[in-house]
Amino acid sequence: MRNLIDAVDLSPRELEEMCDLAADIMAHPDRYQDACRGRKLATLFFEPSTRTRMSFESAMLSLGGTVLSMTDGATSSTTKGESLADTIRVISCYADIIAMRHPVDGAARLAARYTGVPFINAGDGGHCHPTQTLADVMTIRSETGRLSNLTVGLCGDLLYGRTVHSLIRVLSRCEGIRFVLISPSELALPDYMLEGLEAEATESLEEALPQLDILYMTRVQKERFDDQQQYERLKDAYILNAERMRLGKQTLRVLHPLPRVNEIAPDVDDDSRACYFKQVNYGRYMRMALILTLLGAQEDSPRQPVIPFAGSCPNPRCVCHRERSVPQEFIRTKDAVRCAWCEAEAVPEKEN
Ligand code: NCD
Repeated sequence: MRNLIDAVDLSPRELEEMCDLAADIMAHPDRYQDACRGRKLATLFFEPSTRTRMSFESAMLSLGGTVLSMTDGATSSTTKGESLADTIRVISCYADIIAMRHPVDGAARLAARYTGVPFINAGDGGHCHPTQTLADVMTIRSETGRLSNLTVGLCGDLLYGRTVHSLIRVLSRCEGIRFVLISPSELALPDYMLEGLEAEATESLEEALPQLDILYMTRVQKERFDDQQQYERLKDAYILNAERMRLGKQTLRVLHPLPRVNEIAPDVDDDSRACYFKQVNYGRYMRMALILTLLGAQEDSPRQPVIPFAGSCPNPRCVCHRERSVPQEFIRTKDAVRCAWCEAEAVPEKEN
């Protein structure tokens, strides 16, 4: 693996190895302090971010490397009309590895096609966020001692919450994971996530809580709503507080990718089952492990082949509609033909 676009680019074995490496770095940070001496990480963030960008930068600095940082798309040549493909070609000449966050679904896959150096998806629109999943998986493994036989509740914005999408992808390959999806119907998982997924769904957090080993809370993703009234109506759909925590098992672990808004009340923070700040720390070590692994890798993971299909991608937020000269490309999954960039189900051309 040379690029990390989707969390499943990592095989279950590679994921375990990455957790082991992160644990070793945590135990012996001094052994790794020069591991990336002379190497540069470019963080290209076209969307607001503090924690993910700084987590990457802190990770690279702790490995003895240096960082080139673009914190705001508004100051980049994109505003002059440069394509994403050209931006990535140029940055590849300056850096040894790139981490990019972009507001458009599928942008990471497009960027990875043009990169000359290892490339990491640090979040593409409402689609995927594989490095948050690395943090989540490390947290679950460290806090429960396992990545199997767990009942995992995912609560909040399952539609636009890219961290949820990547986490489900990875955990559904582990043994004995039962998912409980907790959301209002308007924020249920997108169709491409449902393919082959066995999960229970409920609108009630109270009902779900007593069964859970993991509760993954998420923020309602304000920036992805076209209708702000709809956001206002849904934003406080779930609020976890100390009183509701009483419904959870003693062994429950509460995760959140952060930033939180209202969905976890501050009175939960001192509960020993709250893990969201530990998660931040695990995330930094997993990013160190990822950077080391990608810089040492020779080959990329095989991609699903593109197939001929007369039709189009219906997702207006997809990179194929937002960037110039991006061809419509399709892949065949078990149940459908999908856009190769954002995975929305493709729409066939109308026959005349
Ligand atoms: C998440 C993201 O950007 O998707 N945050 C993060 O990476 N730490 C979650 C969110 O913004 O709600």
